[in-house]
Amino acid sequence: MKGIILAGGSGTRLFPLTLVLSKQILPVYDKPVIYYPLSVLMLAGIQEILIISTDIDLPLYQRLFDTGEQLGMSFSYKIQHEPKGIAEAFIIGEDFIDGDQVVLILGDNIFYGNELESVIRKAMKRKTGATVLGYPTDSPGSFGIVELGDHGKALSIEEKPENPKSKYAVPGLYFYDNQAVEIAKTITPSKRGELEITAVNEAYLKKGQLYVELLKNGTAWFDTGTHDSLLNAANYIRNIQKNNRLYIGCIEEIAYRKGFIDREQLLKLAGPQQNSDYGKYLMNIEE
Ligand code: G1P
Repeated sequence: MKGIILAGGSGTRLFPLTLVLSKQILPVYDKPVIYYPLSVLMLAGIQEILIISTDIDLPLYQRLFDTGEQLGMSFSYKIQHEPKGIAEAFIIGEDFIDGDQVVLILGDNIFYGNELESVIRKAMKRKTGATVLGYPTDSPGSFGIVELGDHGKALSIEEKPENPKSKYAVPGLYFYDNQAVEIAKTITPSKRGELEITAVNEAYLKKGQLYVELLKNGTAWFDTGTHDSLLNAANYIRNIQKNNRLYIGCIEEIAYRKGFIDREQLLKLAGPQQNSDYGKYLMNIEE
């Protein structure tokens, strides 16, 4: 199973914050945005990850994560030359995916909740088809919207519909079998000039192979694409971390708990970060 983080885009809704800085490198409280989607893939047990970003921003992620070996992982990097859509990730990532199943997460989506891992596990167990998540929204015009059918299957899926058929937004975490690359090659750009991930999902729907897992109450989802959502996410993360004394999106801790690295390596990663509360937390992680 491979993982892709799409950290491209021009972040125009976050200007001037993103005039010279990639939006997935901005802070959400105490860590860069991209730590959060990365931690979701790690919780899913995925160790081989492709990060896709623009030619200008990709070196930032390479400096941040390097080969990934320090986390017991393997990171690859590829450029998306123009913002041609989420589904282009499969075309860019074809060699990396190499006929495997793939989980795609958007670099600005944050998920948190106790039930998240079990939902992910369920989606990953499906060997055929695609699985999207469903999360109730009050602004269906801003997202992909999925309508539920019988037996966990989707009945319809639409990108930012004017007349939504359901209240369930599709968050930026998607699970695919090995057909995704070929499907992505067949779709055409939308009105906004992008290869839409919703078009790929529609192709699965037509084959009767699009499944939906609803995110349960108690699971949080933030898309950090605007100033307000970025601040909301930061406040949320801060509150949970302060009140529960556990860190969200702590990639070193997850690598340790998943057995990707041993204790010695965890402490080695913590050392240089000791001046921050984050580093202190790492030093004090219990066995
Ligand atoms: C994209 C997808 C949309 C999805 C959303 C999740 O929207 O096209 O289907 O619901 O991400 O964050 P965009 O951010 O490109 O407007």
